[in-house]
Amino acid sequence: MVRLEPGSTTSQVTIYMKTVLAVTFTLLASSTAFADGDAAAGKAKAATCIACHGADGKGIAPTYPNLAGQNAPYMVAQLQAFKSGERKGAQSAIMAPMAAGLSDQDMKDLSAFYSEMGK
Ligand code: HEC
Repeated sequence: MVRLEPGSTTSQVTIYMKTVLAVTFTLLASSTAFADGDAAAGKAKAATCIACHGADGKGIAPTYPNLAGQNAPYMVAQLQAFKSGERKGAQSAIMAPMAAGLSDQDMKDLSAFYSEMGK
């Protein structure tokens, strides 16, 4: 964070004000979140996911599904099914531990993030 001192230059003041504005907008954005998912929050939570589903939402291997543009409610339902163990078979054993640590809000945020990708 930039600190203002007596004698700060105009550009220092500008940077300071921009920082204050950026923080304000970030807080406003997160306070409107949500019964639904928040894509920005999802992006921040997707660090592990992109290892397999790609930074662009395209699976890194043919057996790893593409998530870019997928429907959010569908993805939330799948994540819940992996977590509960209801979705079995295929490569679900890879995905189940990933879903195990996600809260309902995490699932919504991550699904919002991937569903908006590539649109
Ligand atoms: C180690 C690799 C790996 C990681 C990390 C990973 N996944 Fe997956 N994911 C998979 C595989 C493999 C499948 C396909 C599972 C199957 O065959 O049933 C899958 C399936 C899914 C599906 C279902 C897609 C569909 O079309 O049905 C969703 C949604 C999903 N992953 C979201 C995530 C999210 C969100 C994260 C991060 C929290 C994540 N994955 C992390 C490998 C991974």
